[in-house]
Amino acid sequence: MGPTATVIAYLYSAATIVACIIAIGVWKSTRGERKFIDPERAAHREKGWLAIVVAFLVTTLLLTIFLVPYGESAKTDAQKVTVIGQQFGFQITPATVKAGQQVEFTLTSKDTTHGFGVMYPNDAGVAFQAQIVPEHTQRVVWTFDKPGKYRVVCLEYCGVGHHVMLSSIEVTP
Ligand code: CUA
Repeated sequence: MGPTATVIAYLYSAATIVACIIAIGVWKSTRGERKFIDPERAAHREKGWLAIVVAFLVTTLLLTIFLVPYGESAKTDAQKVTVIGQQFGFQITPATVKAGQQVEFTLTSKDTTHGFGVMYPNDAGVAFQAQIVPEHTQRVVWTFDKPGKYRVVCLEYCGVGHHVMLSSIEVTP
Protein backbone atom coordinates (compact mmCIF):
# COMPACT_ATOMS: atom_id res chain seq x y z
CA MET A 1 0.00 0.00 0.00
CA GLY A 2 1.10 3.58 -0.59
CA PRO A 3 1.79 5.82 2.39
CA THR A 4 -1.50 7.70 2.00
CA ALA A 5 -3.50 4.47 1.81
CA THR A 6 -1.76 3.23 4.97
CA VAL A 7 -2.70 6.42 6.84
CA ILE A 8 -6.30 6.11 5.65
CA ALA A 9 -6.40 2.43 6.65
CA TYR A 10 -5.20 3.32 10.16
CA LEU A 11 -7.75 6.14 10.45
CA TYR A 12 -10.54 3.78 9.39
CA SER A 13 -9.39 1.20 11.93
CA ALA A 14 -9.29 3.83 14.69
CA ALA A 15 -12.74 5.12 13.71
CA THR A 16 -14.12 1.55 13.73
CA ILE A 17 -12.76 0.90 17.24
CA VAL A 18 -14.22 4.20 18.52
CA ALA A 19 -17.58 3.37 16.89
CA CYS A 20 -17.60 -0.09 18.53
CA ILE A 21 -16.87 1.42 21.97
CA ILE A 22 -19.70 3.93 21.48
CA ALA A 23 -22.07 1.15 20.31
CA ILE A 24 -21.27 -0.94 23.40
CA GLY A 25 -21.79 2.13 25.60
CA VAL A 26 -25.19 2.80 24.03
CA TRP A 27 -26.19 -0.87 24.34
CA LYS A 28 -25.18 -0.91 28.04
CA SER A 29 -26.97 2.36 28.79
CA THR A 30 -30.27 0.96 27.51
CA ARG A 31 -30.15 -2.05 29.89
CA GLY A 32 -31.33 -2.03 33.49
CA GLU A 33 -33.66 0.17 35.50
CA ARG A 34 -34.85 3.44 34.17
CA LYS A 35 -33.65 6.32 36.27
CA PHE A 36 -35.53 9.55 36.66
CA ILE A 37 -33.49 12.42 35.27
CA ASP A 38 -34.40 16.00 35.90
CA PRO A 39 -35.48 17.44 32.46
CA GLU A 40 -33.19 20.43 32.84
CA ARG A 41 -30.20 18.21 33.52
CA ALA A 42 -31.21 15.97 30.60
CA ALA A 43 -31.28 18.94 28.23
CA HIS A 44 -27.89 20.01 29.51
CA ARG A 45 -26.49 16.51 28.96
CA GLU A 46 -27.93 16.39 25.47
CA LYS A 47 -26.08 19.58 24.56
CA GLY A 48 -22.89 18.07 25.94
CA TRP A 49 -23.29 14.99 23.74
CA LEU A 50 -23.99 17.17 20.72
CA ALA A 51 -20.77 19.11 21.34
CA ILE A 52 -18.80 15.83 21.56
CA VAL A 53 -20.28 14.52 18.31
CA VAL A 54 -19.69 17.81 16.45
CA ALA A 55 -16.11 18.00 17.75
CA PHE A 56 -15.49 14.38 16.66
CA LEU A 57 -16.87 14.97 13.15
CA VAL A 58 -14.96 18.23 12.65
CA THR A 59 -11.71 16.60 13.85
CA THR A 60 -12.16 13.59 11.55
CA LEU A 61 -12.94 15.89 8.63
CA LEU A 62 -9.85 18.05 9.21
CA LEU A 63 -7.61 14.99 9.63
CA THR A 64 -8.75 13.26 6.45
CA ILE A 65 -9.84 15.93 3.95
CA PHE A 66 -6.28 16.55 2.69
CA LEU A 67 -5.86 12.85 1.87
CA VAL A 68 -8.74 12.85 -0.58
CA PRO A 69 -7.44 12.64 -4.16
CA TYR A 70 -10.51 14.25 -5.72
CA GLY A 71 -10.75 17.92 -6.57
CA GLU A 72 -6.98 18.32 -6.79
CA SER A 73 -5.94 20.39 -9.79
CA ALA A 74 -3.20 19.18 -12.08
CA LYS A 75 0.10 20.99 -12.49
CA THR A 76 1.15 22.07 -15.98
CA ASP A 77 3.62 19.16 -16.32
CA ALA A 78 0.96 16.56 -15.49
CA GLN A 79 0.78 13.48 -17.72
CA LYS A 80 -2.59 13.17 -19.41
CA VAL A 81 -4.45 9.89 -19.65
CA THR A 82 -7.85 9.36 -21.24
CA VAL A 83 -10.05 6.52 -20.01
CA ILE A 84 -13.18 5.32 -21.77
CA GLY A 85 -15.26 2.65 -20.07
CA GLN A 86 -17.50 0.43 -22.13
CA GLN A 87 -19.11 -2.97 -21.51
CA PHE A 88 -16.79 -4.77 -20.80
CA GLY A 89 -13.44 -3.10 -20.95
CA PHE A 90 -11.40 0.04 -20.41
CA GLN A 91 -9.67 1.98 -23.16
CA ILE A 92 -6.72 3.65 -21.43
CA THR A 93 -4.63 6.02 -23.57
CA PRO A 94 -1.72 5.96 -22.93
CA ALA A 95 -1.51 2.97 -20.59
CA THR A 96 2.08 3.72 -19.56
CA VAL A 97 2.97 6.63 -17.26
CA LYS A 98 5.94 7.77 -15.20
CA ALA A 99 6.16 7.48 -11.42
CA GLY A 100 6.53 10.58 -9.25
CA GLN A 101 4.77 12.89 -11.71
CA GLN A 102 1.11 13.83 -11.58
CA VAL A 103 -1.30 12.03 -13.88
CA GLU A 104 -4.51 13.74 -14.87
CA PHE A 105 -7.13 11.14 -15.73
CA THR A 106 -10.05 12.18 -17.90
CA LEU A 107 -12.74 9.56 -17.52
CA THR A 108 -15.99 8.85 -19.28
CA SER A 109 -18.29 5.98 -20.21
CA LYS A 110 -19.84 5.03 -23.53
CA ASP A 111 -22.78 3.14 -22.05
CA THR A 112 -23.51 2.68 -18.38
CA THR A 113 -21.93 3.45 -14.98
CA HIS A 114 -18.59 1.78 -14.33
CA GLY A 115 -16.15 2.02 -11.46
CA PHE A 116 -12.59 2.81 -12.49
CA GLY A 117 -10.61 1.13 -9.72
CA VAL A 118 -6.82 1.27 -9.73
CA MET A 119 -5.06 -1.32 -7.55
CA TYR A 120 -1.54 -1.08 -6.16
CA PRO A 121 0.95 -3.61 -7.58
CA ASN A 122 0.28 -7.19 -6.40
CA ASP A 123 -3.26 -6.08 -5.54
CA ALA A 124 -2.06 -4.51 -2.28
CA GLY A 125 -5.19 -2.43 -1.86
CA VAL A 126 -7.07 0.12 -3.92
CA ALA A 127 -4.99 3.17 -4.86
CA PHE A 128 -8.07 5.14 -5.89
CA GLN A 129 -11.38 4.66 -7.62
CA ALA A 130 -13.77 6.89 -9.52
CA GLN A 131 -17.23 6.44 -10.94
CA ILE A 132 -17.40 6.67 -14.70
CA VAL A 133 -20.77 7.80 -15.97
CA PRO A 134 -22.05 8.42 -19.49
CA GLU A 135 -22.41 11.99 -20.78
CA HIS A 136 -20.11 13.28 -18.10
CA THR A 137 -16.37 13.79 -17.92
CA GLN A 138 -14.73 13.07 -14.63
CA ARG A 139 -11.23 14.25 -13.74
CA VAL A 140 -8.96 12.63 -11.17
CA VAL A 141 -5.40 13.71 -10.45
CA TRP A 142 -3.14 11.02 -9.05
CA THR A 143 0.61 10.58 -8.57
CA PHE A 144 1.97 7.04 -8.66
CA ASP A 145 4.74 6.86 -6.06
CA LYS A 146 6.16 3.50 -7.06
CA PRO A 147 6.76 1.92 -10.47
CA GLY A 148 5.02 -1.33 -11.29
CA LYS A 149 1.98 -2.86 -12.89
CA TYR A 150 -1.25 -1.39 -11.49
CA ARG A 151 -4.27 -3.53 -12.20
CA VAL A 152 -7.45 -1.72 -13.23
CA VAL A 153 -10.73 -3.30 -12.20
CA CYS A 154 -14.34 -2.26 -12.63
CA LEU A 155 -15.78 -1.58 -9.17
CA GLU A 156 -19.39 -0.98 -10.15
CA TYR A 157 -21.67 -3.80 -11.24
CA CYS A 158 -22.38 -3.09 -14.91
CA GLY A 159 -23.72 -6.30 -16.41
CA VAL A 160 -22.91 -9.95 -17.08
CA GLY A 161 -19.31 -9.22 -18.03
CA HIS A 162 -18.57 -6.96 -15.07
CA HIS A 163 -16.02 -9.37 -13.59
CA VAL A 164 -14.00 -9.50 -16.82
CA MET A 165 -13.81 -5.71 -17.11
CA LEU A 166 -10.09 -5.56 -16.34
CA SER A 167 -7.10 -3.64 -17.61
CA SER A 168 -3.80 -2.33 -16.30
CA ILE A 169 -1.52 0.68 -16.14
CA GLU A 170 2.24 0.33 -16.38
CA VAL A 171 4.13 2.79 -14.19
CA THR A 172 7.78 3.24 -15.16
CA PRO A 173 10.55 4.77 -12.98
CU1 CUA B 1 -17.94 -2.09 -15.77
CU2 CUA B 1 -18.51 -3.34 -13.88
